[in-house]
Amino acid sequence: MSFLKQIDTDNVPKHVAIIMDGNGRWAKKRGLLRIFGHERGAKAVRETIEAAGESGISHLTLYAFSTENWNRPKNEVDKLMNLLVSSLKKEFKTLHKNEIKLCAIGNLEELPPKAYKELSEVIEKTKNNKKLVLTLALSYGSRNEIVKAVKEIAEKVKNNIISVENIDDSIINEHLYTRNLPDVDLLIRTSGEQRISNFLLWQIAYAELYFTDVLWPDFKKEDLYRAILNYQNRERRFGKTSEQLK
Ligand code: IPE
Ligand code: IPE
Ligand code: MG
Repeated sequence: MSFLKQIDTDNVPKHVAIIMDGNGRWAKKRGLLRIFGHERGAKAVRETIEAAGESGISHLTLYAFSTENWNRPKNEVDKLMNLLVSSLKKEFKTLHKNEIKLCAIGNLEELPPKAYKELSEVIEKTKNNKKLVLTLALSYGSRNEIVKAVKEIAEKVKNNIISVENIDDSIINEHLYTRNLPDVDLLIRTSGEQRISNFLLWQIAYAELYFTDVLWPDFKKEDLYRAILNYQNRERRFGKTSEQLK
């Protein structure tokens, strides 16, 4: 039986974020160049988006390229950017047909103009879709996001737009790239690595963490369902005692 049928539809994580890791190792194991791993990874992205829709997740955020990933060999970076453009071109129709709204977080101005343009177009064309908010983290780094937010807030304090006393969680939230997204409920990382790698540090304050050894190109619908089921078997206490939740 598919794990999908076992999912409790009343307790689906609203916001799932995924660190899609292991493309390079997937390729290496097969004696292939890393780019083939990334290409297969793009297929896993499609499969995951479908599964997210089918399981009732409303927000899916995918870590596709970090600020640190700019330090990879130029050839790999170029190929990843080309893959982004070709995937957006190829997937636009399907995204739109399935009422998926595409968003992006990160330092997007750093993307090559071709990628920035394609991304902006798909974001614009899908902006009224309501079924699933799909956010791509591109040239994204959490520290960079926090530095940017602090600068913007400091500027507003200087100009008397907000007072120091009024700075709170929600003011900070409003200055992050993720201002329109709910907190992350479930964070998944593939490939066996158990680290956050500068992803959504503020937003995962109370997320449930799920690590799997599956390499990203091998990630299937059932893997997402399995992660959701695992999430549903946890008790999220948010600082309270177990008894208080009953
Ligand atoms: C994740 O896979 C994709 C990106 C970071 C762009 P990797 O390319 O990091 O794969 P490994 O970790 O080397 O196996
Ligand atoms: C994190 O993976 C970034 C993405 C998945 C896009 P990395 O493979 O770049 O992370 P580290 O460097 O191993 O921590
Ligand atoms: Mg990696």
